Amino acid sequence: MTDDSQLKRIMIERIASQGRITFAAFMEACLYEPGLGYYTSPGRKVGTEGDFYTSISVHAAFGRVIAREMAQMWRCMGSPAAFTLVECGAGNGRLACDIMDFLAEREPDMYAGLGLVLVEREPSLEAAQSALLAAHRERVRWLSPEEFASGSFRFSGCLYSNELIDALPVHRVQMTPVGLREIYVTLGDGELAEELGPLSNPAISDYLGRLAIQLHPGQQAEINLAGPEWLATASRALERGFILTIDYGFPAAELFAPRRGRGTLLCYHRHQVEENPYIRLGQQDITSHVDFTTLMQRGEELGLKAVWFGEQYRFLLSAGIVEEIEEVERSPVAEEEKLRLRMTLKRLIMPEGGMGDTFRVLIQSRGVAEPRLLCRRGIGG
Ligand SMILES: C[S@@+](CC[C@H](N)C(=O)[O-])C[C@H]1O[C@@H](n2cnc3c(N)ncnc32)[C@H](O)[C@@H]1O
Repeated sequence: MTDDSQLKRIMIERIASQGRITFAAFMEACLYEPGLGYYTSPGRKVGTEGDFYTSISVHAAFGRVIAREMAQMWRCMGSPAAFTLVECGAGNGRLACDIMDFLAEREPDMYAGLGLVLVEREPSLEAAQSALLAAHRERVRWLSPEEFASGSFRFSGCLYSNELIDALPVHRVQMTPVGLREIYVTLGDGELAEELGPLSNPAISDYLGRLAIQLHPGQQAEINLAGPEWLATASRALERGFILTIDYGFPAAELFAPRRGRGTLLCYHRHQVEENPYIRLGQQDITSHVDFTTLMQRGEELGLKAVWFGEQYRFLLSAGIVEEIEEVERSPVAEEEKLRLRMTLKRLIMPEGGMGDTFRVLIQSRGVAEPRLLCRRGIGG
């Protein structure tokens, strides 16, 4: 029996005994069911041999540019003796490693007081993170998401994540002639099927109400309640400093626009996009685009100031990708290798079809007056 049919059997049994479940509960199982979920089972997910690329897997320059901005954050906070980086959803630790390598090499004063905390839901990834971060070992510590959320962890510095919020389970809704209904996962002829029902949680209609969004008849959308909840947890932990969120997504008006009639839910398997979440359970990634307006609104309520929001290519261009490219140009590597690197870096910033446009960067701050971040100087600034 393959993992797919094993998880499918479990889901069918669960629904047969408990009744229909929300799509969020279904997605939670597909991604995180212990030992069987997409992120909680063995196998390579990211990169050429995996199912999708993230900006991190494309080139170390991505992490190095983020590190440049983090050094600027540290300066904006008055170059404190201690500064903590916290990565949520750290995956294999590649991004943390690229950031730490850069700071060790270029920012020795900051590095001297630097700590790194990794928060990752899948504990088995700690071995890979630990191996990659061997050179920084004495600065690294690990927290489970539960420890992170417990309220006892507080820090000053920068909390960052790349493609965390798009991997959190979402509720799905549809506008019908009798109002907003939720999409549930049920059984039809013994197979997984969808049906509409009343909202499982009033927070779902409140979510759209706060945005003053009215879906059109027939329109479907995802409601990510876990994203703002995660932000509240992150905000509680942050005494002073920044939260830097990188993900694909849009402002709410664009995300919930009528032309996105079926929402943004997509699955990825071996670099192929798939619309059907009810196949290959636990073997394909399921994601939905992030609503950055809600993250900003909720942030303001939590005392977090949105200091920068924009496309990833704008962030990279103003925070130092050009300097990274120039360094490659000046380095003694062969011309062919330089060409390969240029093409790779282009993928990170290409506004159309690349990763530069669909990905957005949001920086929120607490307790830092008017931070002069690199991204705020604008492209070419
Ligand atoms: C799409 S992957 C991104 C991994 C990495 N940041 C990258 O860009 O390659 C999302 C990661 O977030 C982790 N994750 C999900 N929920 C989490 C939570 N509440 N706290 C920490 N990690 C979480 C998953 O286990 C998974 O490794």
